[in-house]
Amino acid sequence: MIIVRVPATSANIGPGFDCLGLALNLYNTFYFEETEDGLIIEGCEPSLSNENNLIYISMKKCFKRLGYEIKGIKIKVEHNIPISRGLGSSASCIVAGIIGASEIAKAGLSKEEILEIATEIEGHPDNVAPALFGGITVALQEGNQVYYSKVNIAKPLKFYALVPDFKLSTQQSREVLPKQINFKDGVFNVSRVALLISALNNGELELLKTACADKLHESYRGVLIEGFQSIKEKCKELNCKGVFLSGAGPTVIVLTEDSNEKFYIEISKFLKELDSNWEVKTLNIDFTGAKILKDDTCN
Ligand code: HSE
Repeated sequence: MIIVRVPATSANIGPGFDCLGLALNLYNTFYFEETEDGLIIEGCEPSLSNENNLIYISMKKCFKRLGYEIKGIKIKVEHNIPISRGLGSSASCIVAGIIGASEIAKAGLSKEEILEIATEIEGHPDNVAPALFGGITVALQEGNQVYYSKVNIAKPLKFYALVPDFKLSTQQSREVLPKQINFKDGVFNVSRVALLISALNNGELELLKTACADKLHESYRGVLIEGFQSIKEKCKELNCKGVFLSGAGPTVIVLTEDSNEKFYIEISKFLKELDSNWEVKTLNIDFTGAKILKDDTCN
């Protein structure tokens, strides 16, 4: 039995559209076993327990690349990362599937090779990179090559994930983005990404509020998320360090310096007044990334 644990992720971090991402201490756990025949998937909803399952698709892609003929496979998932909420649930499935396949085939793929395959499947590297490496990552794809760098974080950060009870697919959330952007908006984001990385490196947390602002995606996507603007304004009023849409949404991430009980109480009260139900999750950065918990091939 091969057991793989993968953290949740939050992509973009405000201005870093499709390139910045961070890993959070909320995990999906995946169990893999080669069987004599067929496909068994446990822990996913019935409509996804078949050959269209993303974990299985990712495994198949990896087996093909490795030239490994699999007889049958059993996959079990323990889901803790909310699905279609912008917290990297799909990225966790892709990364786990590739690691599981590499272990079954005894191929020992490097994290860089896993990143390359995972990016090809996901289409952009900003969730799969932190899911693999942990921490905060910068990642981009050029041709078949994926370049990445882990960001040095000088001071501890605390995160609050405001997670609504409705889903938003990445596809729907990408469809509302413009085909072209204004030059000034490009400059707005480039300067803030640079400020964000430097502020994290130097522990200049007072800069994060300005550095986490975005003009490339949030305002377009905000219309799909009930209460998005008012939530952002409330968080700013409550003096948080930064607030941004998590990946393609609809989760909103709030950054604070320490645990902030007052913020938790006030934002929970505010969210109760909205039509949808919102859960507030208190999270930290995961610095480990995807991890094989056990590889017991003697079963
Ligand atoms: N960077 C991606 C987006 C993350 O914002 O669409 C979601 O997969």
